[in-house]
Amino acid sequence: MSAFKDNLLAGKTAFVAGGTSGINLGIAQRYAALGAKVAVAGRNPEKAAAAAKSVGADALGLSCDVRDYGAIRRALEEASGKLGPLDIVVSGAAGNFLAGALDMSANGFRTVVDIDLNGTFNVFRACYDLLKRPGASLIAITAGQAVNPRPMQAHACAAKAGINQLIRVLAMEWGPSGVRVNGISPGPIAGTEGMARLAPTADAEKALTNRIPLRRYGEVSEVAESAVFLVSDSARYVTGTILDCDGGSQLGDASDRRGAGLN
Ligand code: HXC
Ligand code: NAP
Repeated sequence: MSAFKDNLLAGKTAFVAGGTSGINLGIAQRYAALGAKVAVAGRNPEKAAAAAKSVGADALGLSCDVRDYGAIRRALEEASGKLGPLDIVVSGAAGNFLAGALDMSANGFRTVVDIDLNGTFNVFRACYDLLKRPGASLIAITAGQAVNPRPMQAHACAAKAGINQLIRVLAMEWGPSGVRVNGISPGPIAGTEGMARLAPTADAEKALTNRIPLRRYGEVSEVAESAVFLVSDSARYVTGTILDCDGGSQLGDASDRRGAGLN
């Protein structure tokens, strides 16, 4: 069930970096269903083409690596040239793997920071002058790891923490021209590559679910609804915020402690 009208995003153009699978693809599909013209981008050209097809007949699938500023700029220019000036840009490309700091090479750490944090800077920096503004809206996809440290996740925790501050700084710098910059912090989302990597077994999934206040994984469609709200006119006075769409995960461990009162 959605509270949003079917033509809510008619006349808008959206670019979703990392929009060729998972949560970001779900966001792209929802924007298109609400009337937006949409481009999705990822490294793999075949995956990008298939994703665009699943978004809609007129959707663009573009191939670029967000670590390469020139490549992301060219993809944004192509989208803006073919679909029209951009109103909405989502930066969601990410990489992750479980490894302790001593099992992670300097290149392993740098790779994740490069994709997540530097990639988000690249996407936002490169899109700014292609935006139709005021009213343009940027969203970065972050995670609870930005705030809560997790073992085996030094790279992703550091990268996502950087993204949270980047969101706030850009909201301050670009607010005066009417550009809003926000984030979404999803909790564990069912059926995604991210959770296949972070909770790869049924036991791990069960243990994690037991700690979530709402006692379940989220759905891609639920994150997409948050992404619609943030770019909608209903959020016109919202900038620099990070919307937790996580079943309460960030509140802490909500498993039953039988009176221990400790977390
Ligand atoms: C230790 C590893 C490793 C592992 C890779 N590396 N996997 N180190 N344990 N499991 C190291 C490599 O050895 C190498 O270092 C360095 O990382 C770069 O690896 P490449 O394979 O060359 O990198 P690349 O081809 O650029 O691929 C990037 C990637 C890959 C992140 C490693 O997994 C990827 O493309 N992921 C994209 C999809 C993804 O991760 N989706 C989940 C996102 S969800 P050396 O020193 O050997 O050269 C998510 C989770 C939820 O983010 C939120 C949490 C924040
Ligand atoms: P996913 O399916 O692996 O999606 C990652 C996307 O980014 C793909 O389209 C991928 O396509 C693209 N990508 C990766 N590296 C790239 C690069 N260097 N340049 C350009 N595109 C790149 O992941 P997901 O699990 O849905 O996660 C999506 C987002 O939500 C991420 O930001 C993640 O951190 C966040 N998140 C996820 C969860 C979860 O439960 N899954 C929880 C919290 C936060 P290519 O591989 O073709 O490049």
